Amino acid sequence: MKRVGLIGWRGMVGSVLMQRMREENDFADIEPVFFTTSQAGKPAPDVGKEGVPPLQDAFDIDILKTMDVVVTCQGGDYTGEVYQKLRDAGWEGYWIDAASTLRMVDHSVIVLDPVNRNVIDEALDKGVKDYIGGNCTVSLMMLALGGLLEQDLIEWVSPMTYQAASGSGAQNMRELLNQMGELNSCVKSELDNPSSAILDIDRKVTETMRSDGFPTEHFQVPLAGSLIPFIDKQLENGMSKEEWKAGVETNKILGRSDNPIPIDGICVRIGAMRSHSQALTIKLKKDLPVSEIESILAKANDWVKVIPNDRDATIEELTPAKVTGTLSVPIGRIRKLTMGPEYISAFTVGDQLLWGAAEPLRRMLRILQE
Ligand code: HSE
Repeated sequence: MKRVGLIGWRGMVGSVLMQRMREENDFADIEPVFFTTSQAGKPAPDVGKEGVPPLQDAFDIDILKTMDVVVTCQGGDYTGEVYQKLRDAGWEGYWIDAASTLRMVDHSVIVLDPVNRNVIDEALDKGVKDYIGGNCTVSLMMLALGGLLEQDLIEWVSPMTYQAASGSGAQNMRELLNQMGELNSCVKSELDNPSSAILDIDRKVTETMRSDGFPTEHFQVPLAGSLIPFIDKQLENGMSKEEWKAGVETNKILGRSDNPIPIDGICVRIGAMRSHSQALTIKLKKDLPVSEIESILAKANDWVKVIPNDRDATIEELTPAKVTGTLSVPIGRIRKLTMGPEYISAFTVGDQLLWGAAEPLRRMLRILQE
């Protein structure tokens, strides 16, 4: 049984990981050791088994060295601080990480096994020890497009994203709700009165949104009633770092960084809670009927679900409200664009904390036990 160190299990991604590991009975097959950055010695969480030691110090290299596998959702600063020290101390265990720090280094593989199990297996054979979860929008797009990617039918993709508040962190989710609450309460009496003028309501809402007292500590600007068309850092070429990740990570996941599929678009934060959506413009390598495209997509994995391009089905099935909290990755709005027979549109949604973050990590841990 593998001795598995879990770090960052109390944070947002870590909590979702814990929930999934409990649901899938993953703890039965490992010897878990829980780490903490601040509460060493306190009791470990109850995972339904005896003999789990108390919380260990997450910076103690000597204890970390006794793990067969480390799974961390603690974030990039922790990875930056601990990973190299642990390797320098001679540790040869497996490092499974949600943070982006090690995604693009040569000695790591980005894990998304329903799409790149072959790349993972090859790396395991070669002795690669670092397995990193991908960016959430990238993993969700790739699960949705798995069939077309597998058959190498895509010439390029332009994803335009609609990303939820959770991608920025737990505090940002709270801030979004506080912003929503402020906007509602500033016009409460007008909303209660059906004959009040909508343009007066709108003016008050806009004034509130622009006022100094509006809560914007985490997003810097209003998100509720608005949107933010820039995610993560600004790069010198005008891309946001989130936009850059789409191309480089997708191609690394596919093991084709030397022959990349061009993938580029604009990433936008919207006021959804935890499911990311993406509108995709795709140029295929050949003209395929929509029915065939749908069938290729639907067959690729157990989680993708093709939604017919029908109004009612779309508004029922293809939304964050429907998908949140599930592993389902619906894709719909598939149709030929007027640009030509190889050009298609698609729209996809997925929970960014499940397939977008926690699920690939726990599945990688399972793969190590096979
Ligand atoms: N970077 C993503 C976002 C979340 O900001 O939505 C994590 O992959």
